[in-house]
Amino acid sequence: MYPDWPETAADLVPQPLCPGPKLAAFDFQGPQDIEFLEYLGEGLHSHVLRVKIKGQEYALKLFRFGYDESWIGPGQYNANGTRAKLTVLAQYSEPFNAECRAFGRLQEAGYSELAIPCYGYILLDEENERRLQDKFNLEFNGDNEISEDDLRGRFLGERSGKPPPVRCIVKALGSTHARNDPVNFSVPMMRRLFRETVQLQQLGIFCHDTRIENLINDKLADFSTAITVPHFMTTPELNPLLTAKDIEDMELETFMRTMSDYWAYIEMLFFMDRNPAQRSKLLDKIPVLPGGLNPHLAKRLVLRDTPRRKLGHQRVFAMVDPRRYDWKATSAAAAETRGVRKRRPRKTLSAKPELWYLNCTPEEAIKFNNRRDDYHTTGWRVDDAGFVFPASTELGHQEFEDETRRKQGLPLRR
Ligand SMILES: Nc1ncnc2c1ncn2[C@@H]1O[C@H](COP(=O)(O)OP(=O)(O)O)[C@@H](O)[C@H]1O
Ligand SMILES: [Mg+2]
Repeated sequence: MYPDWPETAADLVPQPLCPGPKLAAFDFQGPQDIEFLEYLGEGLHSHVLRVKIKGQEYALKLFRFGYDESWIGPGQYNANGTRAKLTVLAQYSEPFNAECRAFGRLQEAGYSELAIPCYGYILLDEENERRLQDKFNLEFNGDNEISEDDLRGRFLGERSGKPPPVRCIVKALGSTHARNDPVNFSVPMMRRLFRETVQLQQLGIFCHDTRIENLINDKLADFSTAITVPHFMTTPELNPLLTAKDIEDMELETFMRTMSDYWAYIEMLFFMDRNPAQRSKLLDKIPVLPGGLNPHLAKRLVLRDTPRRKLGHQRVFAMVDPRRYDWKATSAAAAETRGVRKRRPRKTLSAKPELWYLNCTPEEAIKFNNRRDDYHTTGWRVDDAGFVFPASTELGHQEFEDETRRKQGLPLRR
């Protein structure tokens, strides 16, 4: 479930172990020696500290041992509760792994500049953890609320028999915006952020958790909820046993979560309301989707992108289909050059990617176009062979799905 205590440097393999991108271990060029300087902030999944390593300052994100409900996969069903099944889901989705995969993708594709720079992962050794705790006394069990459960001790290392080491990710130190600070982002900055959102999606990364407090140096920086292709949500070829209905459910889920990046972006505009003039300027100059905040612009976007004869029909689209990213090609190339200090030429991302129209009825499209919140299936289910299915297809979950769709005002599927 979690990486065990390493015995030698050879144990520090790129993480996680499932198919797709991986993040290499941070290179200490010698013994692990970290100076813990200052507590910078926290989130649901982590504590972030300013640290010094070999004379250089970094931001170190130290991951908690969180509850299974706090990441996409296990859901509230204990059907996935065995170590083996949880591990399957965790490889793709558990916050540390999700973040390793997103940064791994940016590195292998040569697009690290779309986020804050990342320098690898660390498994904190006992000596450093002791020094950390002497100074900061951090709680690693649970989410960012007080937890009585020994979640770290739940899965002892298969080799060591001990609770696992704390997992960290090293990033460049940057500046943040306080959540309630008056923020006035410029139009060029917000345009760039939208472009980067779409580019990340072109690289097969979505669910960016776009929020003001997650921006570091005005870049996206928190990928602990990100989904990176290939993923059990997006990639039917990981499971040969999926039914057509399963695949349809996965597609819808992927689509809604892709859309949620735009909704989160639009939401962020609302926080910049200390200066109404600036906000109206932003709303006027920034592209939003049909059904977004700016009907005038939305109409223009549809006019430009939809063949005229289709204008009478309501449709819903995402700016790009993240599933189309060719993950096999980059993963193979990355494996070949891993450890070799050679820059591969990066693939150019189209400035105008093909839009992803959801295959749905006009009525559904109208509903989707008016939505802002997250869509989610009832969960995911791992079978005994380790294949992952959307759990809404499970017997008995139909009612749950019906209720969800009814709440959303959507027609029931039969
Ligand atoms: N690179 C960084 N430089 C400075 N502060 C940071 C950096 N990364 C994170 N932080 C601070 O730590 C907080 C939590 O980090 P984040 O990556 O969002 O963790 P979580 O996934 O738990 O939400 C941020 O809101 C920010 O205040
Ligand atoms: Mg965060």
